[in-house]
Amino acid sequence: MTTKKVALVTGAGQGIGRGIALKLAQDGFDIGIADIPAQEQKGEAVAAEIAALGRSAVFVPTDVSSRSDVEAAVEQTASRLGGFDVIVNNAGIAQVKPLLEVTEHDLETVFSVNVNSVIFGIQAAVRKFDELGVKGRIVNAASIAAIRGFPILGAYSASKFAVRGITQVAAQELAPKGHTVNAYAPGIVGTGMWDLIDAEMHKINGKPLGKNLQDNVEGIALGRIETPEDVAGVVSFLAGDNAVYVTGQVIIVDGGMLYN
Ligand SMILES: NC(=O)c1ccc[n+]([C@@H]2O[C@H](COP(=O)([O-])OP(=O)(O)OC[C@H]3O[C@@H](n4cnc5c(N)ncnc54)[C@H](O)[C@@H]3O)[C@@H](O)[C@H]2O)c1
Repeated sequence: MTTKKVALVTGAGQGIGRGIALKLAQDGFDIGIADIPAQEQKGEAVAAEIAALGRSAVFVPTDVSSRSDVEAAVEQTASRLGGFDVIVNNAGIAQVKPLLEVTEHDLETVFSVNVNSVIFGIQAAVRKFDELGVKGRIVNAASIAAIRGFPILGAYSASKFAVRGITQVAAQELAPKGHTVNAYAPGIVGTGMWDLIDAEMHKINGKPLGKNLQDNVEGIALGRIETPEDVAGVVSFLAGDNAVYVTGQVIIVDGGMLYN
């Protein structure tokens, strides 16, 4: 990469988002790290790791379910780092419940964090790309649950199917401006999210803690749990020069669970 580039990664205080932020920094990007205020310490720690790689990083406290917060995160990243080229709409939450028990509040919560945020991120990023005359890259967090509905992850699966739909629509609407829009669909990644899923599944099916995770990992062809770095490699591709002709795609990165 010859010129300085800037990427904003949401939910980058930990887990997959942290892995993506570090990988894009290694690729030469300066990084905006957006996460909720309660994650400030972790976000600042990621910023310090990026500084140690010789790149600049800023933590921007953001609730991605708030449109004005997302707009402010894009503004702050662009003004403090001096550009804006990529947004990774990564932040998301899981919810483990049989469909018959899902409440109105559950739906509002999961959709506002997993779906509304992606639309807000696209809108704010495109405004900034256009203002700066940049052909930007938008990368969204889908999931294997965006390809196949998973029992007791009903609201979550619905939200990730929505991300896939938004990715396809945005790719077509934004192609005339030269922006690309893609998504990554991880499988079973060992993060805080799976700690929660395993604990909730334990309450539902009584399997010992850790067993639900283990059972799911046993179904992976490559025979091991996924790491944030496995996901980050695909995001690096989608954000980089080699993906210039890729748009509207959801790239499955699951070690061999689903096949398309
Ligand atoms: N872990 C998996 O197995 C898996 C699989 C498929 C897809 N994903 C997706 O990958 C993304 C990252 O997941 P993860 O496993 O790293 O989860 P995680 O829980 O470890 O990290 C999520 C991060 O997002 C942040 N976040 C949550 N709500 C937010 C909000 N309203 N505003 C700003 N930040 C918020 C959290 O504070 C946290 O730092 C999510 O979209 C998730 O759905 C994860």
